[in-house]
Amino acid sequence: MEDSTFERDIDAGLSAPFKHISSKYFYDDIGSGIFQQIMKMPEYYPTASEFEILSLQSDKIIEQLNFKEPFNIVEFGAGDGIKTRQLLKKLMAQKIDFTYVPIDISARAIRELKNNMLATLPEMKIRPMVGNYFSMAEDLSHGETPALFLFLGGNIGNYQNEEANALFSQFGSNMRPGDKLLTGFDLRKNPATIRNAYDDKQGITKAFNLNLLTRINRELNANFELGQFDFYSHYDPANGEVKSYLVSLVAQRVYIGKTDKHYSFAQNELIWTELSKKFTLEEIGELAVANNFSIVAHFMDCKHYFTDSLWIK
Ligand code: TRP
Repeated sequence: MEDSTFERDIDAGLSAPFKHISSKYFYDDIGSGIFQQIMKMPEYYPTASEFEILSLQSDKIIEQLNFKEPFNIVEFGAGDGIKTRQLLKKLMAQKIDFTYVPIDISARAIRELKNNMLATLPEMKIRPMVGNYFSMAEDLSHGETPALFLFLGGNIGNYQNEEANALFSQFGSNMRPGDKLLTGFDLRKNPATIRNAYDDKQGITKAFNLNLLTRINRELNANFELGQFDFYSHYDPANGEVKSYLVSLVAQRVYIGKTDKHYSFAQNELIWTELSKKFTLEEIGELAVANNFSIVAHFMDCKHYFTDSLWIK
């Protein structure tokens, strides 16, 4: 079923007048691995910024959580969990009663996450879930346990405004009054800093984007030639949007076996692969209010590159 969704999305995206592939398809097992490398690049500041926040300010965050009974920490798109572990460590040290429920679509990422977590926090209660965010969140919302939702990293920046609103309203619909949400937002900053983070000289970001084509070749039996595509990224400081693209270097036709169709690319035609939006604090406030949350606090790194914003339902 998952496969046919992928097939339909790719077919629709490559048949559209302005071709696009959803960035959620970056994260197959190989793509998740390349993203780990991106997060280690010196240019890619978001991970380091958020790591700093969770390392230095977890005690302050915990103070603001203020749960009176055992609670779940439900994390959407947990990745390797290195940042989250900073918070979990502090909670364990304070002997606070919680269960960590990481949700991810990559089974491998979830398996590795569980092993890593238990290696450093063997006593922690952990209940990993593989699958779609919302069906999992829905399942959990039938229980009585209060929850802190975590949506860390720059993930929210990958959604267009209406989608971001839809996401927060969906989170909200699975939360009870008093439940909280800690979300990461990458903030506006010197445009050159942002540009360098999304177009590294080593080509790791390029490989990350080209992996989409490798994935289509493998899963949908297609014949993309990777050498015939390049990567291009653009930051517009006026609206805070980084957009990433694959570029067809020649006029070409690609065949996808699963759909039994050819897709034509003009020379220099683009495939849009990701939006990565950078926010102002005003924009964050508008998102919270529009979806019936109140902002409890912003936790920013020392350079004010990034904020983990704590919201209450
Ligand atoms: N979601 C990540 C982000 O927006 C993924 C990412 C990092 C990315 N670098 C990229 C996606 C370059 C496309 C192109 O930060």
